[in-house]
Amino acid sequence: MPQKDVVLTGDRPSGPLHLGHYVGSLRNRVALQGRYNCFVMVADVQALAANFDNPQRIRTHVREVCKDYLAVGIDPTKTTIFVQSRVSALFELATYYMNLVSVARLERNPTIKEELQHKSFAENVTAGFLTHPVSQAADITAFKARYVPVGEDQLPLIEVSNEIVRKFNRVYNTDVLKEAEAVLDKVQRLVGIDGKTKASKSLQNAIFLSDSVDVIKQKIQSMYTDPGHIKVTDPGKIEGNAVFAYLDAFYEDPDGLENLKTLYKKGGLGDSALKTLLNETIQTLLGPIRERRQSITDDTVDDVLEAGSIHASEIASRTLAEVRSAIGLWHP
Ligand code: TRP
Repeated sequence: MPQKDVVLTGDRPSGPLHLGHYVGSLRNRVALQGRYNCFVMVADVQALAANFDNPQRIRTHVREVCKDYLAVGIDPTKTTIFVQSRVSALFELATYYMNLVSVARLERNPTIKEELQHKSFAENVTAGFLTHPVSQAADITAFKARYVPVGEDQLPLIEVSNEIVRKFNRVYNTDVLKEAEAVLDKVQRLVGIDGKTKASKSLQNAIFLSDSVDVIKQKIQSMYTDPGHIKVTDPGKIEGNAVFAYLDAFYEDPDGLENLKTLYKKGGLGDSALKTLLNETIQTLLGPIRERRQSITDDTVDDVLEAGSIHASEIASRTLAEVRSAIGLWHP
């Protein structure tokens, strides 16, 4: 039987996962498992870069993120779920890759630049934060991933990873490392409930997969629409309207949605009716996820992560051995 291609992706456990993660990547992962050899990584070391003085926060969220995975249907019998810090081969790989990328190239990275705007150390960026793309190249190449399901904001990181792969193979005259391709969902970026930039836990504008019925309802009530749309009969704007952005991402009847948009633009559809519809849509999606999440014990999560990390370490160590030998490091 031909070997299945590898799919790898990960999330930083700096908070619970939200609907932006769901449309950007989680639902793709569920769709891909079984057909591919899938790995999902809880990137605690990467998360530590922006939280090095608060490791407790990261440790707590490792379990929570894993619960989110299991709740949305990532199946540990089909997907290896593991913790980054438990796979030490990744950090040795990253060390070798550091030589293959310039500081200027890292400083120019759009993903890093954008993230820096939201971080407190803007002027004093640490080496750990700046080198994310290198550590991410280690994550991707350790498993010889062919596909990486991510949000579009991660594309520049995958580009750096592929540059490192090409340079490594060229400099050491080998083909041990493989280039990877991003897999994007049809919805590439979900706006926050404030209608501004992308949904993000640090901007406190996201609906979490683990939010209660009431919290979801209240967040949808507060969502940004069209400030000029005051009376039901006023014509309204779709562009920049967060409620429509969410309906675009989650409402399952595209023709029905087109009719609603036409009516809204003309005047005659109120924001509260629209929010009721969105609330029903999101509650239907998240209800079963929340229920499944509540039935998952901490012990189950710990077992899944332990078994997954052992398996991931074996694979990554094999690649590391190939990398050391390709470089030609001392060997007795
Ligand atoms: N950078 C990703 C995030 O922001 C997490 C991540 C770490 C990742 N390593 C990866 C994603 C490798 C894909 C592949 O959540």
